Amino acid sequence: MEPYALEMIGITKEFPGVRALNQVSFAVRRGEIHALCGENGAGKSTLMKILSGVYPHPTYEGEILLNGEPVRFKNIIESQRAGIAIIYQELALVPEMTVAENLFLSHDYMRKPVIDWDLLYAEAMRWMNRIGLHVDPQTKVKQLSVGQQQLIEIAKALTRNLQILILDEPTAALTEHEVAILMRILKELKATGVTCIYISHKLGEVMELADTVTVLRDGQSIGSTPIAELTQERIITQMVGRQLSELFPYEPRDIGDNILEVENYSFTADSGKKLIEQVSFQVRKGEILGIAGLMGSGRTELFTSLFGALPGKKQGIVRIEGKVSQIRNPSDAIRAGLAYVSEDRKRYGLVLGMDIIQNTTLAALKKLMKGPILDQATEVARTMEIMERMRLKSASLQTKVGQLSGGNQQKVVLGKWIINQPKILILDEPTRGIDVGAKYEIYKTMNELAKEGVAIIMISSELPEVLGMSDRILVMAEGTIKGEFRRQDATQENIMACATGGKNREQSAV
Ligand SMILES: Nc1ncnc2c1ncn2[C@@H]1O[C@H](COP(=O)(O)OP(=O)(O)OP(=O)(O)O)[C@@H](O)[C@H]1O
Ligand SMILES: [Mg+2]
Repeated sequence: MEPYALEMIGITKEFPGVRALNQVSFAVRRGEIHALCGENGAGKSTLMKILSGVYPHPTYEGEILLNGEPVRFKNIIESQRAGIAIIYQELALVPEMTVAENLFLSHDYMRKPVIDWDLLYAEAMRWMNRIGLHVDPQTKVKQLSVGQQQLIEIAKALTRNLQILILDEPTAALTEHEVAILMRILKELKATGVTCIYISHKLGEVMELADTVTVLRDGQSIGSTPIAELTQERIITQMVGRQLSELFPYEPRDIGDNILEVENYSFTADSGKKLIEQVSFQVRKGEILGIAGLMGSGRTELFTSLFGALPGKKQGIVRIEGKVSQIRNPSDAIRAGLAYVSEDRKRYGLVLGMDIIQNTTLAALKKLMKGPILDQATEVARTMEIMERMRLKSASLQTKVGQLSGGNQQKVVLGKWIINQPKILILDEPTRGIDVGAKYEIYKTMNELAKEGVAIIMISSELPEVLGMSDRILVMAEGTIKGEFRRQDATQENIMACATGGKNREQSAV
């Protein structure tokens, strides 16, 4: 019998105070797409970092076999030589370098005394065509969208002798169009015999792509199952160890008066580009307002500019609790009772070198001050309460945020704003990269806050979540509001039709 492309046997990995992996074993057949599922903090990324030499031998226990032969990588270069490529949850490109330089960073092309730039750019074009990305190879990576950067990372992996491709939540930040391209590339790679390990919280993708699913829970392997024997519900049950009765715990509640009124609002960026055009809407106390729209429809720009976090020129009137309000910067916004939980947690949300308590209380320091002295007991108690509510998985509240799993970092971002007791809470993609169990806790937290009278604005690209949690839904396209739906009238179809101006552009572009 042909040996497995990869076997990991009895893998155990400890960090100070945490056993991240406990005797995990699984095997991957050549040319299959093998999905790795599990809640936030289950150990998925850690297992893949061991496989790719980021955590070198012997900082873990257990054996790794490639094509039946034992391997012990001391670093990531050794795993790359063996044909393993890993694409991380968080991007790893050099922002100041061009696309072409990033693609061939460690290739021989770049080591020559005189670099043949024409050849380099031609080669870069060739690889980018392969993944269907059409940008100039001389563009600096920092000028690309997160989605485009992800595709470059994949192209970069392809330029090497690729045997096993590891993707750790590759689609979290991709547009629908880019996701479709990725799915196509993965299927093509599979046909050429490349083995793929695919980590994703999007179980729809897992069901579409995977041949086998291995589930991790609390650092242990629950088992590997062929896709034919699975449904999304079964995967969820394996992941959380219990059945979730409902995905969206929406509760009807009393909705109060208008708290935020926006009238004929337009916004022009410093570059002169008009990003928001003539927008009017209201949000009421205790209401959950969903904001739907495709990527690039202006949702984030509308709310970051209202929040004072985007430099540019505003026109129109904004009233908070009936009073005209001038928000020039985020401090003004926070003073007026607004909070903004951003979609890019690394850039705006967290200080990775500080611990959980320091991060959550950063925005709330003024409220926690008793006189000039910081009330530490209150700080710790409030943080504990919020983190318990969201089921944060961490050894202690003194853990540095940079050491948390991706989904748990997102919970800290949210906690940081909740502790500040805002009147208007703006959530931008609040459950991106978050597992089903934790999503549920976040939805419940949203319900509770709304019940206390907080107005919640939820920008989300996940239509089921918008439909499942909102009282009312605004649909944006091309920098303006194209439609409004009451909860009872909204469907995936009428929202998509509105977001794409009648025809489904995303689909026709693929
Ligand atoms: N460098 C580190 N130092 C200390 N603890 C760590 C470190 N990296 C991970 N951990 C801990 O190990 C456990 C597993 O984390 P890991 O990142 O592998 O989870 P994950 O399954 O990838 O989760 P997510 O879906 O949220 O990305 C978590 O409890 C995490 O806090
Ligand atoms: Mg992870």
